[in-house]
Amino acid sequence: MALVDACIHHNLQSDIMMIPAIGHYIVNSGGKRFRPLLCLLTARLFAYHGERHIPLSVVVEFIHTASLLHDDVVDSSDQRRGSPSANGVWGNQASVLVGDYLFSRAFQMMVADGDMAMLKLMSDVTNALAEGEVLQLSRTFHLEMTEAECLEVIERKTAVLFKAASEVGAHAAEQSPEVVAQMAEYGMCLGVAFQLMDDALDYLAEAEEAGKPVGHDLEEGKITLPLIHAMQGDAELAARVEEISERGCYEDGDREWVRGRVSAQDGAGFAMNRAKDYAERAKHLLPDSAGIDIDVRNLLAELAEFSAHRPY
Ligand code: IPE
Ligand code: IPE
Ligand code: MG
Ligand code: MG
Repeated sequence: MALVDACIHHNLQSDIMMIPAIGHYIVNSGGKRFRPLLCLLTARLFAYHGERHIPLSVVVEFIHTASLLHDDVVDSSDQRRGSPSANGVWGNQASVLVGDYLFSRAFQMMVADGDMAMLKLMSDVTNALAEGEVLQLSRTFHLEMTEAECLEVIERKTAVLFKAASEVGAHAAEQSPEVVAQMAEYGMCLGVAFQLMDDALDYLAEAEEAGKPVGHDLEEGKITLPLIHAMQGDAELAARVEEISERGCYEDGDREWVRGRVSAQDGAGFAMNRAKDYAERAKHLLPDSAGIDIDVRNLLAELAEFSAHRPY
């Protein structure tokens, strides 16, 4: 992970000063580095001893960071990783453009790696991620959102990048297509758990621990699983959500009222149980064959566990 960080900083160099300024600001403000860790551990699971997985895991983290820069503009979010978001400090234009820089730098790094299979994998994933964000936008205040529609958004906007992280690790370690596919599925399930937990934390956590605004998803028109579940058992809540949707914003007290009602229906608990199911599925997909590093396998099982139980 120290090599990953060095590689991140190396690839943020540019003579256009605003790029390293914003780039370093966002990468130094923290972040769990969960996706590169997943990539490195998957490669190690198969006793990979090369160096390729370092820049490739940075590619995944850059795509993630670029999507956060764009996401905070789209979600009008002023906090990220416990600090003012980049758009809060430099404005929307700078965030969008530096996000574009990170996306394109990630693709330069893949070309330098020189593996067409990897380039195909990552370009498909980046495209799916963009589709996922547009799909979510098109479902803004879609009050009839079903659990299945909600999962479709989650798979596309978030889980695909976790899938890519473990897939890249297995591919770099030159595993068979079957094993690569199995690790991809592990990453996908883990990623769904991760976003379900994120959606639960929006109703559960306090902003200080989350490092970003909470109680914000509904205000942005995101109908997530905790809310879907709570509305099914509370007609008054469903009516209030419809009012908020017509108004297009919160009024004083809406946030706390909605959070209270979602909590009374245990909406976050419902989403967390789903997250636990996906984490279990992920764990069962971890290979058991000879030549597997058991300690690393246990760590990957813990990562799946963490994604469904994390407090931040
Ligand atoms: C935030 O991802 C965006 C989601 C997919 C929920 P992370 O929770 O991994 O963000 P950082 O990198 O740790 O800040
Ligand atoms: C994940 O969705 C965003 C991306 C895939 C970029 P959210 O909008 O829920 O992420 P946070 O909560 O802002 O981190
Ligand atoms: Mg957001
Ligand atoms: Mg969120």
